Amino acid sequence: MSVSRVIAEQMERASWIRRMFEIGIQLRRERGAENVFDFTLGNPDVEPPEAVIAALRRVVAENRPRSHGYMPNAGFPEVRAAIAKRLAERTGVPFTGKDVIMTVGAAGAINTVLKSILDPGDEVIVLNPYFPEYRFYIENHGGRVVAVETGESFQPDIARIAAALTPRTKALILNSPNNPTGAVYGAEVLRELNGIIREPVLVISDEPYRPLIFDGAAPPETLSIIGRAVLAWSWSKAMAVAGERIGYLAIPPHLAEAAALVNACTFANRILGYVNAPAIWQWVVAEVPDAAVDVGQYQAKRDLLCDALNSMGYDAPRPQGSFYVFPRTPIPDDLAFIRLLQNEGILAVPGSGFGRGGYMRLSLTIARGDIERALPGFERAIRGTRA
Ligand SMILES: Cc1ncc(COP(=O)(O)O)c(C=O)c1O
Repeated sequence: MSVSRVIAEQMERASWIRRMFEIGIQLRRERGAENVFDFTLGNPDVEPPEAVIAALRRVVAENRPRSHGYMPNAGFPEVRAAIAKRLAERTGVPFTGKDVIMTVGAAGAINTVLKSILDPGDEVIVLNPYFPEYRFYIENHGGRVVAVETGESFQPDIARIAAALTPRTKALILNSPNNPTGAVYGAEVLRELNGIIREPVLVISDEPYRPLIFDGAAPPETLSIIGRAVLAWSWSKAMAVAGERIGYLAIPPHLAEAAALVNACTFANRILGYVNAPAIWQWVVAEVPDAAVDVGQYQAKRDLLCDALNSMGYDAPRPQGSFYVFPRTPIPDDLAFIRLLQNEGILAVPGSGFGRGGYMRLSLTIARGDIERALPGFERAIRGTRA
């Protein structure tokens, strides 16, 4: 067998994703695709904003000299400077181009920083429930996952985090707005977190959903509040360009180890095989860094789904951001409830896939019409649990 033991075990752990995919194929075959309502995907169902496509056309038409070759591993210096300027305005942290490394999405940014800081056996705290890929990213670099339960409304529980810190702790991954819960972390809890994070621990603030925020709220800037936070950013969700793989890592210049960390991350970006972020898309995002999809359509779908589910007797709090709803399953066994939904042609992700049983994740990237047509199935499923 040429597949490594580690990868074989990780694939087994992730096999529920493949099983769900296969169930989706089977249901579509049995019922017809139009009668299957897929709430599982975190892939934006909208087109990128016109400003992004216009910038892409301009960049391609200009065909700048040397725009397709290797560039410094951290990215084009002009692009890094433009991103840093915008980030400094937003956060008040005096970023300059040397503090920004363009990456292959947020996944590339997180892997790059973990590769740079972890020695085998070092610990990384994640807040439960969490994006399941974090486990693999951490294990990619010999790290150990320490999952800490969140508290009220899925906010970080500072006492539990403090109790989980050990001399081996190297990082804590924060994700707000959150996948899967839709929670947005408040300024006060971030301040409390800042109070317990000491060198050498780094907070990795994973923020691909920051622009996807509802009800006109503004999420607090993690980098303004937490002194030892680095930013893993991505335009995958904000611009609906997940397949283009563009993001960045920002390392605040006030960190004592900033210069060493930038060098290490630039090197890690190279040796992980990314080499550099996609060239054309670096120029595009530098032109329109704040372009974002219409959040209103996600908010309208959130309201439709949460109002309907709550009126049926589900406990489905409205997410404050991201594009996920994370209701409790009406019975504690989320896998059993997911099967009841499948009988109705509805595909949802069990909360246990994120480390929290008794819940399910429903993605709002599904078409509005499909949500409407799925509602009777949700109603029959909850009634089925009461029969
Ligand atoms: C919380 C979270 N972090 C990171 C990522 C990876 O995003 P990217 O496409 O930028 O690599 C995702 C993608 O779904 C995500 O949900």
